[in-house]
Amino acid sequence: MRVHNFGAGPAALPLAALERAQRELVDFENTGMSIMEHSHRGDAYDRVHSEATALLRALLGLGDDHTVMFLTGGASQHFAQIPMNFLHPGQSADYIVTGGWSEKALEEAQRVGTARSAASTLENGRYTRIPSAEEISIDPAAAYVHVTSNNTLYGTQWHREIDAKGRPLISDMSSDFLWKPTDLSPYDFVYAGAQKNLGPSGVLIAIARDSFVAQGRKDIPTVLRYATQSKARSLYNTPPTFAIYMVRNVLAWLTDLGGLAAIEKINREKSRRLYAALDSQGDFYRAPAALDSRSTMNVVWRLPTEALEEELVTKATAEGLIGLRGHRSVGGLRASIYNAVTLESVDALVDFLKQFARAHHA
Ligand SMILES: Cc1ncc(COP(=O)(O)O)c(C=O)c1O
Repeated sequence: MRVHNFGAGPAALPLAALERAQRELVDFENTGMSIMEHSHRGDAYDRVHSEATALLRALLGLGDDHTVMFLTGGASQHFAQIPMNFLHPGQSADYIVTGGWSEKALEEAQRVGTARSAASTLENGRYTRIPSAEEISIDPAAAYVHVTSNNTLYGTQWHREIDAKGRPLISDMSSDFLWKPTDLSPYDFVYAGAQKNLGPSGVLIAIARDSFVAQGRKDIPTVLRYATQSKARSLYNTPPTFAIYMVRNVLAWLTDLGGLAAIEKINREKSRRLYAALDSQGDFYRAPAALDSRSTMNVVWRLPTEALEEELVTKATAEGLIGLRGHRSVGGLRASIYNAVTLESVDALVDFLKQFARAHHA
């Protein structure tokens, strides 16, 4: 019995990817041992590592000028590691602040060097939207411009190209990586923890322009230099082999499904159905995100009282709809509908929400 998992991360994984791991767990491809027990320098693991890289490149149509890295530390570590690499002495970096995670990224950069907010949509203590182009003022000499493509806590997402005014563009894509076909050529560095859209926790994917990585600072510890891992194919030291193996399974599932165009269609339909259900119940459910900023990955909403929100979570959990509590810093409710969450799960949630509203809306 599998539940309907709307958790924000670690999040639902595709059943096919889990079942493949189950089949291969004890004896990987007739080698007499699990992939977890193989050396990261051996042939068996190398095939998995290369396949994961190749699948990712093919799904994104990546050009030869971008490198793919499997890293550890989570996005939070890279909030610090990015300025350590790319913020050179005497420079300043620009951050577009659209939620709690971009605030943290900016704070870490300010610990490393000079960084400023090039735009912020914080209003009355909350973030409900993506800034307009006019609200963003890029420093023409910025070392780089950092954005958060999807704001996991507040349920907002960029739906237009980001103009970095010719400065290097860096994006934290942790909560919407691979949700649709994406041209990464405008980006110099993107990164995403795997535990939402592409695997278990413990590994982070970074895709970067080779020439940008090569310009990174050389006066920081070797293991923290992106150039070190890029040159070593992410095998400078022992990588999280089992997490990367699971990413391979998820990428193979996504490829079999028809790739990013196919998953985009499903993702758009899931978010359409869920927002339509919320919008159809008068003012019982309120989604605070501005219409043009609504996320297709994290749907956030409120009820008239916190007591009703608690009741909803309790009743939903009893019906096998789990992970609906909003982030502790924001409150309310949130359904994360990442790639692996099925239309069937969303339909089950829609039915539940309609029933709950009927029972409580006088
Ligand atoms: C957009 C975004 N950035 C960063 C993080 C932090 O990731 P981690 O816990 O892997 O450091 C999260 C986690 O939810 C996130 O959603």
